Amino acid sequence: GAAVTADISKLEPGQLIRVEWRGKPVWIVKRTAETLQQLELVEQNLRDPASDVPQQPAYAQNRHRSIKPEIFIAVGICTHLGCSPTYLPNDFSAQVEGIRAGFFCPCHGSKFDMAGRVFQAVPAPTNLVVPPHMFIDDNTIIIG
Ligand code: FES
Repeated sequence: GAAVTADISKLEPGQLIRVEWRGKPVWIVKRTAETLQQLELVEQNLRDPASDVPQQPAYAQNRHRSIKPEIFIAVGICTHLGCSPTYLPNDFSAQVEGIRAGFFCPCHGSKFDMAGRVFQAVPAPTNLVVPPHMFIDDNTIIIG
């Protein structure tokens, strides 16, 4: 129960919207073409690039960790101690050189790429969690 519906018809490339699901923030991000390209560039620096650690839906076990490459959905809670990472759509390069967009957790410095995959040498042990979800049509997502 307690599934939530999100309308993404107005979501612009690069934009992130939040919905609440079971008391947790869930992010829905529309990734740009540049962001999708950069997913490949960072893989050697990630802890679990293929999302082999369980707790991911089968449709999240790919490079972009999503059903549709451009739409990324994740629980917006750091897998270290539960802070909410900050979305840096344009200035993540201060955290990882050459990468424009990503997520940075201000509590202890964990870094995640635009598929929520955790970088090496940070406190967070695993990738951000992808919640169960499905598309009803191109612009409507059910989470839960
Ligand atoms: Fe995010 Fe510790 S809670 S790095």
